[in-house]
Amino acid sequence: MKKGMLKKILAITIVGVMGFGLVSCGSKKDKLSTIKDSGKLVVGLSADYAPYEFHILDENGQDQIVGFDVDIAKEIAKDMGVELEIKDMNFENLVAGVSSGKIDLAISGMTPDEERKKSIDFSDIYYTAQHGILVRAEDKDKYKTFEDLKGQKVGAQMGAIQAQIAEEKVPEGDLQLLSNVNDLVLALKGKKIEALVVELPVAEMIVKNNPELKIAEEKVTDTEGGSAVGIQKEQQALLEQVNSTIKRIKEEKLLDKFIIEANELAEKQN
Ligand code: ARG
Repeated sequence: MKKGMLKKILAITIVGVMGFGLVSCGSKKDKLSTIKDSGKLVVGLSADYAPYEFHILDENGQDQIVGFDVDIAKEIAKDMGVELEIKDMNFENLVAGVSSGKIDLAISGMTPDEERKKSIDFSDIYYTAQHGILVRAEDKDKYKTFEDLKGQKVGAQMGAIQAQIAEEKVPEGDLQLLSNVNDLVLALKGKKIEALVVELPVAEMIVKNNPELKIAEEKVTDTEGGSAVGIQKEQQALLEQVNSTIKRIKEEKLLDKFIIEANELAEKQN
């Protein structure tokens, strides 16, 4: 073989190898490094869920999103050494947002259920809560259990596991789904629905701010439930990073503090 030919083959091979290297790097580039390089962590949530995440007007009259999930997001960003950007979204779009990479993480009181695990990964559980039924105060004796709501209009957030709970537990019920929990509260007060299923800490906060509502007797404990951070699949480094912050928050008993503060802020609003 001539020398020139050999050189050519060699050059093509090298370019080929480099090209391949680039491609494989591109697809494998882990999200944690991308976040660190960009200096910004984008967290998606549905800010209609006090004390987890909700809107307040700060002392300057500015709209702000706060809550214990936001505090967790801040700690995660701090441990990564990056800025935090919060994206307020409809709850039902969060899983797709994570899997497509539109947001880096979903921190929104999200239960790591089997259906969602098909498209995204989850961190360790950082918080667990029961689910409660909200009813109008005057109906408290009429609607004590799911059975009592037989055939009635029961509301739940679109895309949330409470929709499945209501569907399963209310015999012949008419499930009413809306994207925003605040709209569901209005629907309950306006007698468009007879009950609303949400996580119990949220129900408690809603009752504090809306004394015309009450929490029914029956509660639901789902043993596989709890809240976890939603993360794109196959992002091991990011998953470990998030879990290390969750571990630290638990060890330093920060979560209790965040929850107390979030409750105080949520009560102050109304
Ligand atoms: N835990 C429930 C779920 O994962 C409801 C969460 C709703 N969160 C919210 N920010 N609105 O389906």
